[in-house]
Amino acid sequence: MANFQQEIEKHQADTMDREVFGTRLGFVLAAVGSAVGLGNMWRFSYTAAEGGGAAFVFLYIVLTLLIGIPIMLAEMAAGRAGRLSPIGALKKAGGPAWAPMGFVYVSAGLLILSYYSVIAGWVVRYSFQAITGGFPADAGAYFGEISAGPTAALFHLGFMVVTILIVTKGVEKGIERASSIMMPALFVILVGLAIWASTLDGAGEGYAYYLTPSWSDILDGPTFASAAAQAFFSLSLGMGAMLTFASYLSKDENLNREAAVISLADFGVAFIAGLVVFPIVFALGLQNDVSESTVGALFIALPGAFASMPAGRIVGSLFFLALLVGAVTSAISLLEVVVASVIDEFGWERKKAALAAGSLIAVLGLASAWDTDILGLIDAIAGELLLMIGGLGMAILVGYVWKDARTELERGATPLFRALLPIVFFFLRFVAPPIVIFVIYDRLLNVLNVIQTSF
Ligand code: PHE
Repeated sequence: MANFQQEIEKHQADTMDREVFGTRLGFVLAAVGSAVGLGNMWRFSYTAAEGGGAAFVFLYIVLTLLIGIPIMLAEMAAGRAGRLSPIGALKKAGGPAWAPMGFVYVSAGLLILSYYSVIAGWVVRYSFQAITGGFPADAGAYFGEISAGPTAALFHLGFMVVTILIVTKGVEKGIERASSIMMPALFVILVGLAIWASTLDGAGEGYAYYLTPSWSDILDGPTFASAAAQAFFSLSLGMGAMLTFASYLSKDENLNREAAVISLADFGVAFIAGLVVFPIVFALGLQNDVSESTVGALFIALPGAFASMPAGRIVGSLFFLALLVGAVTSAISLLEVVVASVIDEFGWERKKAALAAGSLIAVLGLASAWDTDILGLIDAIAGELLLMIGGLGMAILVGYVWKDARTELERGATPLFRALLPIVFFFLRFVAPPIVIFVIYDRLLNVLNVIQTSF
């Protein structure tokens, strides 16, 4: 009987002519591609170094387990059950009152991509520079020149064109194929770089700076909040990326296994990136440049280091290439949330939807390309605050409102995970909401602070 029902469902699903991932691995790599991006390669290690080293890493892992993975599961369940992008899937699970939350998701995707693409444009610029002429000795002046203004706008637009082209090709031929090639390449490059970095003179000091635990730091409210916000951003949660990708899955995929693999890969890349960055920084005594700002560390301290190292050009090219790969696969997922919503809500063709949504985002991004203060503000609003609001909505929807949530999460799950499901629901109901509400409060203060200091 159960089999028969599954057959019918499968048939219905197949005839609904929604795109699907070609393979299970394809889905995992696309989701890992979404998660692994600029957030891992740059923000994680600096936040960790400043926020308590190994103690921060521990806090980060705990938060991933307590709220990250449960919310990721919630998103994937809603997407797979609804077979729709955020607005439709939330309406289906919670009723029409949830449509505005779906709208928040889509807006977050739109806004995040608008400045993410500007930063990715800088990365493209640096990659070219590394490959063609080597890094300039005065990386600070160079960054000042290229980070805002016409060149920044140009590279941002170029990056958007590539992103639009991949998304236009669809789920299997575009997103899945791109991620399947790029993600393994990124892993290989990064591990190679970490091994190389361990041979440098400053390696020991670098590791110590990165990881020496300071337990008192993590009890600090803002550090705690930034760890949670970092986990959300890094895992691509709270704006429907995982939801949308899961809407292209078949019904019987094992979500708990996928969520574990995705989170582990995301953390692994973030952690290893730190093992690359800090030995380099300490080998050249650049630690003071690093503490100034996270962007400064990535775009000023590191290139400066690459410029003065014997193998700097090769290593630097590889590093920025890996960064670029991460940025592309994350950008694809951000755009896909918006494009899938346009397709589902207005019935547009993929090509038209990708071109329209992508162009709108490209134009919006010009503001961030013109002024890095605007970039910082949109990051604070969309990259942190909106994601947390989206996460709170997801925890409440799946924890309290959506009646079939449990059945959906049980589908394809291992017996062990089925036994653990009550814990997942406990986290969604009672642990995630208070933590996330605290973080929303903290990040709201941060937005006000950014406005006051920059404008
Ligand atoms: N997770 C991506 C990164 O770490 C960014 C991202 C956020 C992508 C939200 C999609 C959604 O760079």
